[in-house]
Amino acid sequence: RSTSFTKPTEEHLKDLKAILSTPTSLLSTLDGSATPDDLASYNDDWMNKYHGKSPIVVKPRTTEEVSKVMKYCYEKGLAVVPQGGNTGLVGGSNPVHDEIILNISNLNKIRSFDEVSGVLVADGGVILEAADHALAEKGFIFPLDLGAKGSCHIGGNVATNAGGLRLLRYGSLHGSVLGLEVVLPDGTIWDGLSKLRKDNTGFDLKQLFIGSEGTIGIITGISIHCPRRPAAMNVAVFSLDSYEAVQKVFAEAKGHLGEILSAFEFFDKQSYALVKKHQEENGGERKVFDQEGDFYCLIETGGSNAEHDEAKLTGLLEHLLGTEMVLDGVLAQDSTQFQSLWSLRELVPESAGKAGSVYKYDVSVPVGKMYGLVEKMRAKLREGGVLEGDGNPEGPIRAVAGYGHMGDGNLHINIVANKYSDEVEKIIEPYVYEIVAENDGSISAEHGLGVMKAPYIGYSKNDVSIEMMRKIKTLFDPKGLLNPYKYII
Ligand code: FAD
Ligand code: MLT
Ligand code: ZN
Repeated sequence: RSTSFTKPTEEHLKDLKAILSTPTSLLSTLDGSATPDDLASYNDDWMNKYHGKSPIVVKPRTTEEVSKVMKYCYEKGLAVVPQGGNTGLVGGSNPVHDEIILNISNLNKIRSFDEVSGVLVADGGVILEAADHALAEKGFIFPLDLGAKGSCHIGGNVATNAGGLRLLRYGSLHGSVLGLEVVLPDGTIWDGLSKLRKDNTGFDLKQLFIGSEGTIGIITGISIHCPRRPAAMNVAVFSLDSYEAVQKVFAEAKGHLGEILSAFEFFDKQSYALVKKHQEENGGERKVFDQEGDFYCLIETGGSNAEHDEAKLTGLLEHLLGTEMVLDGVLAQDSTQFQSLWSLRELVPESAGKAGSVYKYDVSVPVGKMYGLVEKMRAKLREGGVLEGDGNPEGPIRAVAGYGHMGDGNLHINIVANKYSDEVEKIIEPYVYEIVAENDGSISAEHGLGVMKAPYIGYSKNDVSIEMMRKIKTLFDPKGLLNPYKYII
């Protein structure tokens, strides 16, 4: 724990209470108003891998309250962790020690929506799925989708520059976010909530906050360009016998489907086995394929003409089956099947989590090299004596699953262990980062650095880049109070 930060006390708690409009906006173990168990869902992360010890959770209701809280903490030297839906996967949203948790879930209003321009302006604490539902009513779609949509916040999405399942179609948040409202570490409110698509007047400051993981400011408002919701959406899932076949299908899908291709995801048989087991345990088992494979890919289309799109997708399906590029394929026949086919992919993280303690890696490498990394990782774990064959439910490693956003060259490797241990971690890290760097890849394609990858940033960024980032951090947060011990350390 850095001694430069003030330790939170009951005195601070009293002052914070006076700042906030309602007493329910504050939870603390310091005055007995909450137990450590009450605070566990804020102190612990989604994977149950990182555990903070904060005695105070503050949940302001307005941007002005966020500003007052930050001003107070800045003056007193209290460290603060911004927290959204707490679905992050790199330990970024939880305290490392006793930092105050500033959770923004009470900032959850849609502020405006312009049906002509498609610009949505909303609080940072709006849940992603809620934002998308509100847009669906108007015939629009949020240009980001991910498995945690029911819990993550759009502020958290911007703070992590989340990628997700449809980046292939809608691009990165660096392109779709038009403006931000941010509370800076000293409490200053920056109103940068532009609704303009074009604005070349000086530095594009919002870009600094997109992907800043709560280290230089708290995102309280977002303005984002949302496209029309495709009138027709469809999904097909294929089983295949090799990773080479998955790559060929990706090329064919781009050729046949063109602009209506909205997602291309892949997962291996180990990922599929985890999902099937999870579904069986929850009574949802269902036979999907007559012939299963070593690999699977999911193709989604979104277009304006249902008949037209279906003809294209059916044409692709017939071509793939006819040329034996795939073993089997299923095309969704209705919206229920659309969801259930998507769940085969979306449920991989949750299913891995149910199977054990998961070491998660999220990397970018050229598409052709993606699966080679999973195989290298398996070989390394076998050599280290912790992986038997493809995994042993009774052994230290239960499974090594590879899946991801093929269309974006983004691979996820999930190593399911029976428990988190230094022995296993030392075999995996830094080896996993070394093999990514050898392929000129990124050690974090979309999940960010958080506390997990902060020490390893040098595998993806050179010294000059890191120094520039340090200077930016110091410019906004000279006392280093916002989300310390993470990102750039
Ligand atoms: P949190 O987890 O609360 O915080 C994440 C980081 O952002 C922390 O550093 C925190 O300090 C900071 N932060 C949060 N809110 C703010 C704010 N308002 N202002 C400033 N800083 C803030 N990620 C992907 O990129 N693609 C995926 O496909 C994907 N799928 C997922 C599926 C599952 C099942 C799960 C559990 C996670 C997935 N994630 C994915 C990771 C995670 O959901 C995203 O990173 C998400 O954007 C985090 O949003 P959140 O609101 O939960 O943020
Ligand atoms: C995903 O693509 O499913 C997410 O990034 C989450 C994860 O990999 O755990
Ligand atoms: Zn992902």
